[in-house]
Amino acid sequence: MRLARPLLALALAAASLAAGAQAAFPDRPVTLVVPFAAGGPTDVVARMMAIPMGRSLGQSVTVENTVGAGGTIAATRVARAQPNGYTVFLHHMGMSTAPALYKKLQFDPLKDFETIGQVVDVPMTLLARKDFPANTLPELQAVIKREGNKISLANAGLGAVSHLCGLLFQSAVGTELTTVPFSGTGPAMNALLGGQVDLLCDQTTQTVPLIKDGRVKVFGVTTPRRLEALPNVPSLDEQGLKGFEVKVWHGLYAPKGTPQPVLDKLNAALRVAMQDPEVKKRLADLNADIVPADKMSPAGLRTHLEAEIAKWGPVIRKAGVYAD
Ligand code: MLT
Repeated sequence: MRLARPLLALALAAASLAAGAQAAFPDRPVTLVVPFAAGGPTDVVARMMAIPMGRSLGQSVTVENTVGAGGTIAATRVARAQPNGYTVFLHHMGMSTAPALYKKLQFDPLKDFETIGQVVDVPMTLLARKDFPANTLPELQAVIKREGNKISLANAGLGAVSHLCGLLFQSAVGTELTTVPFSGTGPAMNALLGGQVDLLCDQTTQTVPLIKDGRVKVFGVTTPRRLEALPNVPSLDEQGLKGFEVKVWHGLYAPKGTPQPVLDKLNAALRVAMQDPEVKKRLADLNADIVPADKMSPAGLRTHLEAEIAKWGPVIRKAGVYAD
């Protein structure tokens, strides 16, 4: 196609402006959207990453908690944001379960986002309020058998990992409990600490210090093997809940159409952040595994996201769990 000279000049000027904007990125703060409440495990990881990412980008990275509907409100917000690199999104495996769980989802995880890279894998722990009348998994199972749905189980909404872990646990013990949803496991944990709810399944990024301080009771970890950070806590699997396994993967995304040079800068900043000695130490203390370099890439996250959507879809449809 031939453009008239003034049009060609305009097109060239626009292209050079866009290239200039990408080269200058970022020239203002970047917003890191977290789909759950402040103080919870996703927020903990986001705030840990934000400071070294900001240092590497030369601009601050500000955490924004956009809560509700198991993370889907935040995902919709990011899918509709300007694709310029100034809005990025940290979400966990809820990104892959949402398409099957929500009938009227307003975004497509594969079509509406650019993948920047996987971040961390985090195990979970099954907890009770401190004064709950059971100390071991068999005692907990006995109480559940006796009390049934008088026992409450907190979670962070449909599609939250606390919800998925809770579903697995209820199916393993064959009893439906009363689930109490919150906007994140930060507030759910406050309710557990305050004795307003009985049980919560939550990620070690929030629970390790509380377990070590004896502020909650722990019945087991959700990985087949025990965790380095909690060597005295048995796995649920070794106590008889065979095959009980949940490890929560996390990814960093940007809206679809974010230019490649900007995505490259964000990926580089993510890598720098996850190599920061302070971040590495804090994550190790919380038993969160930083993913290897090949996974911390756009292709690594996209391949994983595709595989997880394919894995969870049939499981969720078979279980018949969904939101209208
Ligand atoms: C949170 O950050 O509050 C949790 O990751 C929510 C959840 O259980 O998925």
